[in-house]
Amino acid sequence: MENSKITIIPNGPAMIQGNCEVTLPNGEVVVKEGRTTLCRCGLSANKPFCDGKHKGEFKVD
Ligand code: FES
Repeated sequence: MENSKITIIPNGPAMIQGNCEVTLPNGEVVVKEGRTTLCRCGLSANKPFCDGKHKGEFKVD
């Protein structure tokens, strides 16, 4: 697997650029290709992935 780049978006998600595998709390492994965003604010309805709900007044930094 190639190296991935992780960027913390101010007041937003952690963005992973590059292929990765995400292991969910139930043990399921989700293979993601390209770009993946992980929620840092806790508001996403699709955790651990960002669904854009961080936008607005909520600050995570
Ligand atoms: S960081 Fe985007 S919904 Fe939480």
